[in-house]
Amino acid sequence: MARIVRIFKMVEDNYLYTLRFLDDRLAYAFRHQPGQFLMLSVPGAGEMPISISSSPSRPEVLEICVRRVGRVTNALYRLHTNDVVGVRGPYGNGYPIQEMTGHDLLLAAGGLGMAPLRSLLWYALDHRDRFDNITLMYGAKRPDDMLFREELVSLVDRTDVNCLLTVDADPAGTWKNYIGLLPTLFGHAKIEPARTYAAVCGPPVVFKFILQKLLALGFPKNRILMSLERRMKCGVGKCGHCSIGYKYTCLHGPIFTYWDAINLPEMI
Ligand SMILES: Cc1cc2nc3c(=O)[nH]c(=O)nc-3n(C[C@H](O)[C@H](O)[C@H](O)COP(=O)(O)OP(=O)(O)OC[C@H]3O[C@@H](n4cnc5c(N)ncnc54)[C@H](O)[C@@H]3O)c2cc1C
Ligand code: FES
Repeated sequence: MARIVRIFKMVEDNYLYTLRFLDDRLAYAFRHQPGQFLMLSVPGAGEMPISISSSPSRPEVLEICVRRVGRVTNALYRLHTNDVVGVRGPYGNGYPIQEMTGHDLLLAAGGLGMAPLRSLLWYALDHRDRFDNITLMYGAKRPDDMLFREELVSLVDRTDVNCLLTVDADPAGTWKNYIGLLPTLFGHAKIEPARTYAAVCGPPVVFKFILQKLLALGFPKNRILMSLERRMKCGVGKCGHCSIGYKYTCLHGPIFTYWDAINLPEMI
C-alpha cells in the first residue's frame, strides 16, 4: 500500500501523483528500471497499469503521470493527498540500460509518451558520465498541453543535453521554443545512428512518423526502442490479456525493439 503524498495538476486531466509506500523499509528498498510499470489499484474501482515516471536514481517516492480516461482513472482523480492506493510491481522489462550505456541517446515523445520516457531522461541525466550525447525531442499540441513543461523548459539551456521542445500551435504567442510537428525537430539535432539508441513513445501517429525518420537515417532496427501499451489484467504473464502474437506486453515488454515489431506486425 502506498500513500499519495502529492498531487500536481500538469495539464487538464493529466495529474502527477507522488506515492510513498506505507512501509518505510519498502520505500527505501524499492528499485525499478526506467520503462517499467506498476499495477495501481484504487480501492473499490479496480486496477490499471501505469508507467513509473520517476527515475530510480531518485528513490523513496514514486511519481506517476495519469491521464483521466475512464473508470479507474476517474476514481483515482477523486482521491486526495494522504489517501492510500495499492501498488504491485515493478513489472515489465524496462529499457536495456546496460546495452545503452556508453552510447548516444535519442528520446522522442509525443503527448503522454513523455510519462515513461521521463524516467529514462532523469536516469541518464543523473548518471551523465555513462552516456554520450543525449537528445530529447518532445512535442505537444499547444504549450498548455505539454507535460512536465516547466521541468523540460529548464533543461533547454543545459549544455549536457539537447532538449528540443515543439508545439503544433501557439495561440497565445508566448512560446519561446519550436513550433511545428515533432519530426521537424530532426532538422535541429545532430544524430549519429551508428552510436545511438532511440527510445520512442507516444500515440500511433508519433510512432509512424518518427519510425520513418529513424529508418531513413539508417538506425539499426534493434536500436529503436518502442514503449507500447495494451489492455492488461494480471501484469505478470498469466492471463493472456496483453498478448501480441506469442509475446506478452507485460512480460516481454512494454519496451520492444523495431525488430520485434517487424516480426509481429500487429504490435503497433
Ligand atoms: C504498460 C502501460 C503503461 C501505461 N502507462 C500509463 C501512464 O503512465 N499514464 C496513463 O495515464 N496511462 C497509462 N497507461 C494506460 C492506462 O493503463 C489506461 O489509461 C487505464 O488502464 C484506463 O483505465 P480506466 O479504468 O480509467 O479506463 P477504462 O474505463 O478501462 O477505459 C476508458 C477508455 O480508455 C481506453 N483504454 C483503457 N486502457 C487502455 C490502454 N492500455 N491503452 C489504450 N487505451 C486504453 C479504453 O479503450 C476506453 O476507451 C498505460 C498502459 C500500459 C499497458
Ligand atoms: S496482463 Fe496478463 S498476461 Fe499480460
